[in-house]
Amino acid sequence: MVNDDDWEELAGRPRKGRKSRKKRHPRSRAERLDAEHQRAEQNEFLRGLNDRQGRFEWMKEERYNTMFRDIEAKIQGAMGSGTYDWVDRRVFDQVFDRLTLMALYKMMKSGVIDTLDFPVARGKEAHVFHGTNLAGEPVAVKIFHTSNAVFKNLIQYIEGDPRFTGLRRKHRDLVEVWVRKEHRNLSRLARWGLNVPLPRGVHKNVLVMDYLGTATSPSPKLRDVSIDDPQTVYDDLLQFLAVSWQKGKLVHGDFSPYNILWHDGRPCVIDVGQGVVDSHPKAQEFLVRDVTRLVEWGQKNGLEVVLADAMYDVLNMDLSDVEQIDLPE
Ligand SMILES: Nc1ncnc2c1ncn2[C@@H]1O[C@H](COP(=O)(O)OP(=O)(O)OP(=O)(O)O)[C@@H](O)[C@H]1O
Ligand SMILES: [Mg+2]
Repeated sequence: MVNDDDWEELAGRPRKGRKSRKKRHPRSRAERLDAEHQRAEQNEFLRGLNDRQGRFEWMKEERYNTMFRDIEAKIQGAMGSGTYDWVDRRVFDQVFDRLTLMALYKMMKSGVIDTLDFPVARGKEAHVFHGTNLAGEPVAVKIFHTSNAVFKNLIQYIEGDPRFTGLRRKHRDLVEVWVRKEHRNLSRLARWGLNVPLPRGVHKNVLVMDYLGTATSPSPKLRDVSIDDPQTVYDDLLQFLAVSWQKGKLVHGDFSPYNILWHDGRPCVIDVGQGVVDSHPKAQEFLVRDVTRLVEWGQKNGLEVVLADAMYDVLNMDLSDVEQIDLPE
């Protein structure tokens, strides 16, 4: 990385040389303006470097400092102990950028989150934390990364090129839409009485929902538990897909034993961000894939089930007694 000194070396010296020559040969007004423009650009560039090197300089600003002091104690558990100078920089760098901290701050002010206690899972797209809300209930806080490694690599060649501005912003917007989509899908499924974690709030790249697990660890994934009565679980999940499709008009899209937690003796479906409505051009294809995954799980667990029957059931199951319910506020 080029530091300020290298830059001085590369850019500063020739300028000084030119300057001393210019005393003898006064520049035209156009030349002067040109040089000023160049200098302004260099300063801008240097400021940019400083910003990037001191990624967390912003914390020293009074208004952010106050915010961070307010929430620092509440997020200690999520970051390790101690002040932000010596917490796990990787988690910090990946998850807690300025806008994410501000989003958490806002949700803490509104009571949706009180504390952020410990990381439950680190994925490519998001970190999930155990937290509590103001009522002291446990909540899962899913914080989506606003910049992944691929994006970081690409953006360095684009940012700063005046022809392509605002890409970082656009990328964040896309993440935020994704988070709101997961929140809406959760609400829709929950309203049809389906067993998903209840959504508790969403803001920017942060999604809060019911926490499934104990005080120390999240509930296990369906793929990691041995099930005594696979037929009941299979029927439960088949009904899930049927209600979701026929009533909720929604396809999960990634319905696998990795995205189903075994909680309180029942399967609970998570990770619904990629869920699409039935008018989506790929909805039927996704539905067949979801049902196939369930049938495969059934077969692995000794059930004699086949895709054709399962598909028929999902499309035709009599659900006339299934009604929408009001979600608690
Ligand atoms: N509500 C919850 N309660 C407890 N743990 C949860 C909850 N939601 C997610 N988790 C944990 O976080 C992990 C990742 O969650 P999720 O699948 O929603 O995120 P993801 O970013 O899509 O991750 P992956 O790419 O690994 O699928 C889950 O496997 C589970 O262990
Ligand atoms: Mg997942």
